[in-house]
Amino acid sequence: MALEQYPVKPANKLYYGDNLTIMRKMSAESVDLIYLDPPFNSNRSYNLLYKNTTGLPIPEQIEAFCDTWEMDFEKSELAYDIPNIMREYGIQNDAVQFWYYLTLLLKETNPRLLAYLVYMTVRLIEMHRILKQSGSIYLHCDPTASHYLKVVMDNIFGKDNFRNEVIWHYTGNSVPKLCYPRKHDVILFYSKQKEFYFSPQNVLIPYSELTERRYNHIDETGRRYKISALRNGKQEIVYMKAGKYPDDVWDIPVLRGKERLGYPTQKPLALLERIIKASSKEGDVVFDPFCGCGTTIEAAIKNQRGWIGCDIAIHSIKLIVDTRLQKYALKENTEYEIDGIPQSVEQARYLFESDPFQFQYWAVERSGGFCSNKKTADRGIDGRIYFEAGGVLRNMVLSVKGGNVKPSDIRDLRGVLEREAAAHTEHAAQGGTEMAGFICLNEPTKAMVQEADAAGIYEYNGVKYPRIQILTAQDIFDGKMWRCPSVVKQIRKDKGQSYLAL
Ligand SMILES: C[S@@+](CC[C@H](N)C(=O)[O-])C[C@H]1O[C@@H](n2cnc3c(N)ncnc32)[C@H](O)[C@@H]1O
Repeated sequence: MALEQYPVKPANKLYYGDNLTIMRKMSAESVDLIYLDPPFNSNRSYNLLYKNTTGLPIPEQIEAFCDTWEMDFEKSELAYDIPNIMREYGIQNDAVQFWYYLTLLLKETNPRLLAYLVYMTVRLIEMHRILKQSGSIYLHCDPTASHYLKVVMDNIFGKDNFRNEVIWHYTGNSVPKLCYPRKHDVILFYSKQKEFYFSPQNVLIPYSELTERRYNHIDETGRRYKISALRNGKQEIVYMKAGKYPDDVWDIPVLRGKERLGYPTQKPLALLERIIKASSKEGDVVFDPFCGCGTTIEAAIKNQRGWIGCDIAIHSIKLIVDTRLQKYALKENTEYEIDGIPQSVEQARYLFESDPFQFQYWAVERSGGFCSNKKTADRGIDGRIYFEAGGVLRNMVLSVKGGNVKPSDIRDLRGVLEREAAAHTEHAAQGGTEMAGFICLNEPTKAMVQEADAAGIYEYNGVKYPRIQILTAQDIFDGKMWRCPSVVKQIRKDKGQSYLAL
């Protein structure tokens, strides 16, 4: 279909950041449909695997998001504050009381669950505020927490506004061990009030071939029909309908090969299209506060809805821009906006101060590299740049520093470079570490530059490259790049290393 057939509205926006902060700035009753697929309290963290064009994972992995929960000071404060927030938002007194007693109970018996519910409750309260009166919300979860979340949803949206517990059933072969194989997710569907937009006729499921064959006549307009015998001996013509209405058990296949973007927990487009087509109209605004790799966003674009997505992982925003938005050739600033990603040194500093890990991810990726996993990696390495020299993939280790910088930072990095260059690591098998890059917010001192120069030169094909290089955030904004044997674009094309001006 021609691209022009997917008009987008100026509402289209991608926010990088914590959705709680973002939603608190959004206007009341400003979105028509909310779909959320938050962490499920599964007590595991999901990793995003970088892959090269051959499909093989590149050694670096970054934690896409962490789904483990602890009760900390901030959540304890919030737990006690939730009844006040609920009253302020006009939530009924019995719901407020319920929350109060639940907090007291879980604090003793299951603080981890309380931490998760605090996290979800404050966000669901905001979702209730920003949802239009005619709107609906679909909360995607699984049996780990669905029973608790339903109680929270009943309290915030009202149990009379509960519409369905949709079961998304996916198949696959598993051998039962202690229980039947777990093959479904739960999607809690609530409306904001009694009157709401709902058009299941937009999501009719085509009949099976078998059913179609039973309608074994075709009239002059091409409509299929069958002739049924009535009890009174007469016959009647029964036309085949366009399809059947979905019920609350949805058999939608899990992701298929081509659709996979490599993002953990990515949901099928067909699932999101069904929700969007049934519960919103063309031109409505669909909001996904945990947008991951943007399945909701693509479903909205494809069906001429406006969209707003938030994610706390910078990689998710990058992936959405690189894949979904590129697929529809959408242009930044005219057809969509990105918010929260540094566009200046000042904003980069703000990011560092509010979330040093995300600053690190941003700096590595913005300079064209792959991030290291924050938990397992490190040993002084925040990321790597891959380049090709002598027919093999070689690399440059990267280290990011947001605060004050000093010559010993460069000495430490030199130590890391020597260690990596000498080590027979998986990287060495691919060609090894040849250089190191230091990214900083503040200008390096003269002594730091001298330390870097003292690390010497890496020579390839008669060209000399400094073994240790320094880039400031300002350099990155000015478009300066690492000096490596291969051009960044070339690496990108051949090795699947992606670069996006975030
Ligand atoms: C289960 S995934 C969503 C997957 C998505 N439905 C898709 O199809 O790609 C949950 C997402 O929520 C994001 N996330 C977790 N906490 C968040 C928060 N406080 N604010 C915004 N995003 C958050 C994670 O980074 C992750 O990408």
